[in-house]
Amino acid sequence: MHIIRVKDYDALSEKACNYVVNQIRKLDKPVLGLATGSTPEGLYERLIDAYRKEKVTFKNVKTFNLDEYAGLEKKNSNSYYFYMKDKLFNHVDIEMNHVQLPNGDVSDIEIECSRYEKKIREAGHIDLQLLGLGLNGHIGFNEPGSSFSSRTHIVELDVSTREANARFFDSMKNVPTQAITMGIGTIMESKEILLLVSGKKKAEAVKQLLEGEISESFPATVLRNHEKVTMIADEGALSLVA
Ligand code: F6R
Repeated sequence: MHIIRVKDYDALSEKACNYVVNQIRKLDKPVLGLATGSTPEGLYERLIDAYRKEKVTFKNVKTFNLDEYAGLEKKNSNSYYFYMKDKLFNHVDIEMNHVQLPNGDVSDIEIECSRYEKKIREAGHIDLQLLGLGLNGHIGFNEPGSSFSSRTHIVELDVSTREANARFFDSMKNVPTQAITMGIGTIMESKEILLLVSGKKKAEAVKQLLEGEISESFPATVLRNHEKVTMIADEGALSLVA
């Protein structure tokens, strides 16, 4: 794993933006895997800025998001569909028919998971997958215990994950208990992975990721088996590793 150490969150967002812009420019028809949560917000702001300054175009970009809550309508402001439109898609020249997220608002989730896997397969591969790191080591919503060979599937969210995300909801009881996530096997087939980690609260998770045993009990450790992973992390996130 290649580690890029930066001072703080701003520097992380800047580096990540340059990284993603370079990828988009390099490839003819880039396929990006996208993440939600707090960590990529600064990156998305900078991508919008880069687009406005005509440093990048999303015309030929296709995207697949990692995950989506089950049971939320797209128009719900806590859905990841809403997040992506609000934080990126509405502000750049991406074609909305090039954008894919799992749909959590369906009666048959199993069929939705298969549909999503098929879409990714049809796109060939994901060129660059963005990831954040959960405090419990989750990537996407692959919670501890998820199989390293899993494909897109439904998950029961950990209490710790629901608590970490409760800040976006009115109350804990409104935080969905389930989500659809790309599987670890799906994520690991991406050609390249860019992991973003910021802040002291993630320091223990980063230590575990880099120094712990590679195990399904801390899903992110699987990334050490991937040949092309770059982690951009700030001083806070790296504060417990040498
Ligand atoms: C989001 C996702 C999650 C987050 C992780 C970190 O699509 O899949 O794995 O990346 O929970 O979240 P933040 O960035 O809010 O700390």
